[in-house]
Formats: sequence, structure tokens, C-alpha cells
Amino acid sequence: MCGIFGCVLLKGSAVEQIQDGIKRLEYRGYDSVGIAMVDHGVLQIRKDAGKLSDVSKRLKFSEMRGSIGIGHTRWATHGAPNMINAHPHTDSNGRIAVIHNGVIENFMELKKELIEKGHSFVSRTDTEVIPHLIEEEMKGDVGLRDATLRALRRLKGSYAIAVLSSLEPDKIVCARHESPLVLGVSKNGTYCASDVPAIRPYTNKVVYLRNGELAVLTVGGYEIMRVSDGAEISRDLEEVSWDLEMAEKQEYPHYMLKEIYEQPTSLRYGLRLQEKYVELITTFLDRGKEVFLVGAGTSQHSCIAGSYIFAKLARLTTYPVVSSEFVERYGSTVGIDSTILAVSQSGETYDTLKAIDHSRMRAATVLGLTNTVGSTLTRVSRAYIIQQSGPEIGVAATKTFTSQVLVLSQLALRLARLRGKLSQDEIDEFEAKLKKVPGWVENILERSREPIKSLAEKYIGDKLFIFLGRGISSATAMEGRLKLLEITYTPALAYPAGESKHGPISIVEKGTPCVFVCPRGDTHAEIIGSIMEMKARGARIISICEEGDSEIEGISDDTIGMPKGIPELLSPIPYAVPLQLLAYELAVLRGLDPDMPRNLAKSVTVP
Ligand code: F6R
Repeated sequence: MCGIFGCVLLKGSAVEQIQDGIKRLEYRGYDSVGIAMVDHGVLQIRKDAGKLSDVSKRLKFSEMRGSIGIGHTRWATHGAPNMINAHPHTDSNGRIAVIHNGVIENFMELKKELIEKGHSFVSRTDTEVIPHLIEEEMKGDVGLRDATLRALRRLKGSYAIAVLSSLEPDKIVCARHESPLVLGVSKNGTYCASDVPAIRPYTNKVVYLRNGELAVLTVGGYEIMRVSDGAEISRDLEEVSWDLEMAEKQEYPHYMLKEIYEQPTSLRYGLRLQEKYVELITTFLDRGKEVFLVGAGTSQHSCIAGSYIFAKLARLTTYPVVSSEFVERYGSTVGIDSTILAVSQSGETYDTLKAIDHSRMRAATVLGLTNTVGSTLTRVSRAYIIQQSGPEIGVAATKTFTSQVLVLSQLALRLARLRGKLSQDEIDEFEAKLKKVPGWVENILERSREPIKSLAEKYIGDKLFIFLGRGISSATAMEGRLKLLEITYTPALAYPAGESKHGPISIVEKGTPCVFVCPRGDTHAEIIGSIMEMKARGARIISICEEGDSEIEGISDDTIGMPKGIPELLSPIPYAVPLQLLAYELAVLRGLDPDMPRNLAKSVTVP
């Protein structure tokens, strides 16, 4: 959470680039914003609670001067979102400014120690100890870089930081541990940011900083050192392959809608996985005595869907586990015979990384499925595979869910072949269906926008929704529920449909909207039974089913028709799409911003 950006320019004012950088990082948090710049040897800071667009006007960011500066967009962890707690934070003399993404776990004891030494604090944040620690270290005539190195050695927890000081106004010192940070170099300057889209307008040449590394940025470039012992590290620039257009809204009113519509393309990319990675991951999956699929939020739903696909195609039992529960539940049993496939769009989710750190310590094999090249997950996994969805900016995951399920399906198919669990005909048939997925999604997008808009208008006043599905469709139902509640704030339940009679049915009243996910397949007859149960209690039934499925259509109040011939095991991909659109249309109709849902952030890099 939180986005950090910094730049040192050869010529020109830095403030525009800083604002643009923060804007592109707002998906990481947007409750407060702040900028620090050095102009003629003086450190200036402007910051306040609110989104960049409002604060920038109020505080006249564009009037700030200087060719070096740092900017921050916040998602509060310690201290309410207000002006005092907004970043940058400074030392006692207002000469060292720090922006931070992460959580400093030992800040209370550091703060106490610093107060005893005479430092006074103004905010309730954990971050504020960092500039004070640097100030303390600089007392012995130590330069900014070395003082920061020393200060960092005292921190426990996670951080990506950028430090700017009027005492050495030609440089930014930045560092990371368990929070992402990428450096970029252009002809006109050097950059650091939480994520590539913030620096992509200026360069495609980047370096990913690794855990426990510090970098000094100047107009001439960067130097990297290890925090623990100050050893110099040499690392070459890498080229980012995607262009800026891919990370911009283009003609769409929201990133979420753009990303929903990108799914045919992202799925086509997702079918072009690199052979050697598929091979490697499949081999590891086959060897594991127990296989866990670990993820959070939407990625957890991909894991649930994946567990059905691995079981049914490859006869491999896998355990889908919510990342934040993994250590508590399996921490004492996971070991050398366990394989963990961690699924994470960002590759930076704290809970997921914690689960795999624990597993690695116990000699388990860790594999990764992520959308983010250079992310922590790619570095700590024995083998990883990139899902190829392109940047996802909207806070609600859409195209990354469908791509994750597509990749898991391909892994399962390969495993089925390896284990001899399917005949050649069955393999060929499933492969042919996989190739059709992007086209099905394209077709759904073409024809269902208007009907879904009308559906949203009809159900706009409803205060509670229930999402149900059987088998693999329970994962689709959960994903539909998550989309709805996270961007429209509408309370919603999701259950495997068979479970609804064990409790959830008690909340159904006359008119309660129940969304059923009903692909053709093994669960079709059972889902009809579940619909009838809800209907008997007065629920209004919205069904996502195959077009021409007269049994389902006959008992539903509303249906969204899906193309014929979609196998149940692949259905989470196309069947999630109308649910994404329904949530989107409801949010827009209610005047909410689907790209920036309250209290959420795209990347949850804190415990
Ligand atoms: C939901 C959503 C979140 C993420 C979750 C995991 O729309 O975006 O629930 O799915 O925070 O993120 P990753 O996949 O980056 O680990």
C-alpha cells in the first residue's frame, strides 16, 4: 500500500512528473498525498488528506519549484488519514524528508529512544522515526547515504523509502525491504517508484531493487548497495516490454472497464506461455506429496477454481488456502514434501509472501504464478510463471482473475498429460476449448453490456445480494460477490449452492436477489434444485447460463446468456465476465468510482 515516487532531473521542474507519478500510483492508496522538493537549498513540503486532484489544487502543487523531489500517495496503516500523518515526514529541523510504503514494526521502541535523545514527533505514524533516525546518524558528520544505511539497519518490518534532504540536494536515497521499488533511467534524469507505470512515461529502462538494498539516485544514474554491510552491487538496466498505452485509460471512463474489455487480448497472451516454465512448474507439482494453492482475495478465488481443475483433469489433489491463514493452519506441518503454488497478481501481497517465506524456511518447494515481472514472488520462487495480463490499474482485479484461471488450466492439462490421466483425444479436445476462451469472452463483451446495464438499473435499489454456484462455479460466485461488494459496498454472500440450505437461506426474503452461476455440466441438475429452494422463499433469480438453456431460463427472473459449448471446468473465465460488468454498472449508477473503492488498495503489502 502507498505509492512512492522520486525523480532527479537534469533540467526542468520536477513537480509535473512527481504529480503524474503519484497519479499513476493512486491505485495503491489515495487517502492523503504529499510532495517534497528542494529549491535553492531549501526543503519545501506540501501535503494533506484527500486525493491528488483535490489536494493539488488546494495546495497549488504546480507552484512548487526544483528539479528534484519525492511524492507519496497514502493508504493509512498507522495514524488516521489527515494532514499531519500524510507523508513526507521530516526530522526535527525540517531538512530531511522521507516517504515510506510499508510498516515499521519496532517504531514504538525507536520513537521512545529518540524522544529520550530530545527528538519531538508530530504524527502518529511509524514512518516519522526514519527521518529522525537519519538525523541522529548524520550528527557525526556522516553523509546522507551512510546515515540512511545505518538508520535502516535499526528498522524491523517492511519498507520502500525515498529520502530527500536540503543538506545534500543533488540526490535521492531510496531503499527497500519487502515493499516494492523500481529505479528508472532516462536521458533527463533518474527515477524511483513503487511500480513501473509511474516511470514508464519517461523511460523503458528499469532496475528492480531487491530486499535489503539501497540506491542513491543522481542526474548521472544510480548506485546500489547492500544495507547489511554497505557492499556495492552492480546491476544492469532491463527493458520493459509493454508501452504506456497499455497502462492508460484510453477512451474508457474507468480502468476497470478498460481492463474488463482487454480480457480477450490478455487471454490470448495467456495462451502463449513459455514452454520451459510450464514444463518446470508441472514437474514440481507432480513431485509434491501435498500441493497447496495459496492466494488472497481474487487470487484465492483463482486457487479455488484451480483446485477443481487440477483434481478433475490431472487427478491431483490440491489444497486452496487463504494466504493470511496459511501459517496458522499448515505452518507446523508444511515441509520438504510440500509444494506451494502461490498465486498473486502483484507478486507483492504481504500475506502471500509471508506464507511462502514460512514454507521456504521449512524446505518446501515454492512456485509462483504472478503478473509482475521482477516482483518479490518471482525472486523467492523455485520456479515461476508470468500470466501475461499486462498492467492492471483498477483496484478490482478483473483480467488478472481470468488469466490466472487460464494459466492454471494449462498447467493442469500439462500435468494430466504427464501423469497419463487423459487420452490423446481428451487432451486435444480440451486444448481446442482452451483456444476458444478468448473468443467466447469477446462474444460476451459484445453482446452483454446493454442487457447488464438494464439489469443494474432494475436491481439498483437492492441492499443485499446472494451469489451461488455448484462445484467450480462456487469460485465464480465468490468472485462475483467480491467484485460487487468491493466497488459498490453492497453486502453480499457467496456460497457453494449446496451449502445455502445449511444457514444462508434464512436471510432470503421476498425479492432478495440471488445470482446463480449455472454452466452446463456435472452440476447442472443440482443447481436447478438450489434455484428452486431459493425461489420457494421468494428470491428473485438472476442466472448466468448457456443461451437456450430453457430449464434455467424457465425458473429465473432474469438470465444472462452465455455462448454454447463452454466446458464447466473453463466456465469461471467467461462466466466471471458478466459478474464483473454487473458490479461495474451498479457502481457507476450509484455514482461511485469503481477504480478507487474506499478503504482498499491494489497491492496489500502490509500485515
Ligand atoms: C480484489 C482484489 C484483491 C486482490 C488481493 C490479492 O478485486 O483486487 O482482493 O486480489 O489483494 O492481490 P494479489 O493478487 O496481487 O496478491
